[in-house]
Amino acid sequence: MDAFEKIEQILKDIEQNNPQNTEELETFRIQYLGTKNIFKGLSPLFRDLAPADRGRFGQLLNKAKQAAKSKFDTLQEQLSIASANQVERPDLTASAAPQSLGSRHPVSLVQNQIIEIFQRIGFTVAEDREIEKDWFNFTALGMPQDHPARDMQDTFYIKDSMENLLRTHTSSVQTRFMKDHKPPIRIIAPGRVYRNETISARSHCQFHQIEGLYVAENVSFADLRQTIYYFAKEMFGATKIRMRPSYFPFTEPSAEVDVWWGTATETDRKITKGTGWLEILGCGMVDPKVLENCGIDPEKYTGFAFGLGIERIAMLKYQIEDIRLLFENDVRFLEQFQSAAIF
Ligand code: PHE
Repeated sequence: MDAFEKIEQILKDIEQNNPQNTEELETFRIQYLGTKNIFKGLSPLFRDLAPADRGRFGQLLNKAKQAAKSKFDTLQEQLSIASANQVERPDLTASAAPQSLGSRHPVSLVQNQIIEIFQRIGFTVAEDREIEKDWFNFTALGMPQDHPARDMQDTFYIKDSMENLLRTHTSSVQTRFMKDHKPPIRIIAPGRVYRNETISARSHCQFHQIEGLYVAENVSFADLRQTIYYFAKEMFGATKIRMRPSYFPFTEPSAEVDVWWGTATETDRKITKGTGWLEILGCGMVDPKVLENCGIDPEKYTGFAFGLGIERIAMLKYQIEDIRLLFENDVRFLEQFQSAAIF
């Protein structure tokens, strides 16, 4: 085979050589463009050519080299586009990634338990805003401006207006509800409340309450007592409760309720300060003036109300010593509680 036949053959080979993947393309590159490419082997033939033929041979040689180069460039680009478009196929036989289940916050656990207990006797849940008008939080509840009872609840006001505040109790939900609904009313109002208190192991500037309200004809103090007793029995397994006279500006008469906790163990004695009694909530008959403020006829209707702090009960139930743990959201603390339901 002379030099011309040889170069024609190479040209034909380049045309017919169609690498299909990166490996074949690499072989192509080594063969035609690498340091020991096929063209280098032609040098001896070139030297043997008659000078007159050398120009034509040189042209053919260049043509072949260029053909190899441009074929390589085109194929390389096509292959890289193809690989970018190649979507990884999911492995349908692989097992599902394990899902870790979150846990319910202890405050939610206790709140849900209390809601459930009251729902069983016909109470429904009412919720409302945390940023409240002074009127619903204080004035309607028998605490006009300058009333000394306002000092019982150190208040966060919004800006300087004294008009808007962070609600200090969920009694504000009750006044709103009474304004919009006619008796009979039987609601429980769970929610977050705020008081301007120094944060310590025992108190916090935010906490949760549940307050209950029952307004209808002929609601009596006996109804209140029986309702609270039912709650204490369901929630704590308490066998008895006692009511101590107390004062709230929006109820008359008012009482504080203790449940019988017992003095059997060291812990029992510690949390009841040796008495066996544990205070759990405040309550009373809704003051007729409050009903009137909210548009309900106090001649026709009477009602009772009660309120309790959820954190306090969660701390008792789970023996949590420091209220701050309930607001820090440290997962090491939270994951110790009952798993969230999957459904
Ligand atoms: N609102 C009262 C408080 O936050 C609790 C309470 C509610 C007392 C209803 C009596 C009746 O302290």
